[in-house]
Amino acid sequence: MRKAKLLLTVIILLAALVSYAQNTKSPLKKDSVAFAVIGDNGTGGSAQYEIAQRLTAARLKFPFDFVLMMGDNLYGGDNPRDFEKKFEKPYKTLLDLGVKFYAALGNHDDPGRQIVYEKFNMGGKKYYSFKPKDGVRFFALDSNYMDKKQLEWLEGELKASASEWKIAFFHHPIYSSGEKHGSNVELRNVLEPVMVKYGVDVVFTGHEHFYERMKPQKGINYFIVGSSGKLRKGNIGRSALTAKGFDQDNSFMVAEIAGEEMFFQVISRKGQIVDSGTVRRAERSRKVSTAK
Ligand SMILES: [Fe+2]
Repeated sequence: MRKAKLLLTVIILLAALVSYAQNTKSPLKKDSVAFAVIGDNGTGGSAQYEIAQRLTAARLKFPFDFVLMMGDNLYGGDNPRDFEKKFEKPYKTLLDLGVKFYAALGNHDDPGRQIVYEKFNMGGKKYYSFKPKDGVRFFALDSNYMDKKQLEWLEGELKASASEWKIAFFHHPIYSSGEKHGSNVELRNVLEPVMVKYGVDVVFTGHEHFYERMKPQKGINYFIVGSSGKLRKGNIGRSALTAKGFDQDNSFMVAEIAGEEMFFQVISRKGQIVDSGTVRRAERSRKVSTAK
């Protein structure tokens, strides 16, 4: 009887593994940039840990090098034990494998403690940029305080960057169909003109506790991934902005940039693929970068 049960368990596990392997695309392209996106994850609760397990499993098939964090990295405190319970423990296997995490600050985060925390790779700054490979640059912004100084920094960085792909990430979405928060229009008014002018291709945000992909806005592809720990079930309202939304369970994203295309796939807590596709780099950014 016990043997039969064990055999059944093994069969179920194998079937799950096979179906997962069939459904998850590997980064296959040479010289691609593979990464994952999580947001609003730092609860220390079971949903965060389950998503962390899925993320770890996804890496076997999709060997991403780093993870972008959309903010609200630690809810309810920024003491050493919070870093341990809400970050180091759930992502231990990934950290041990050398996967890097790059954090943006959310409204629940203590900037003083997080920007100097080595494993968030913020280099002591509330906003920063990094280039994982030639041709791709990421810009982490602090959307809690989008002041003149930060905007000027962003403009300078974008202007100086010859990278073909320019990807910004920050906490508060400037386009959102969320019934709780919705689009942050004030932030959009100051940030969007700069991003459009200098050819930002993709923007990742969080804050809304669901997944949403917008129809491109002024040539920029927007994604909200604020569901990797928290979940606000059923909160995506009817809106002309939505290309695809998922607010029924927690989720995260894996993505790969190769040449002119970025492939993305969004995976739920139960391992379902809830969205996937490819976006092309904006023509506009190509013009900007080749002008340099
Ligand atoms: Fe938030």
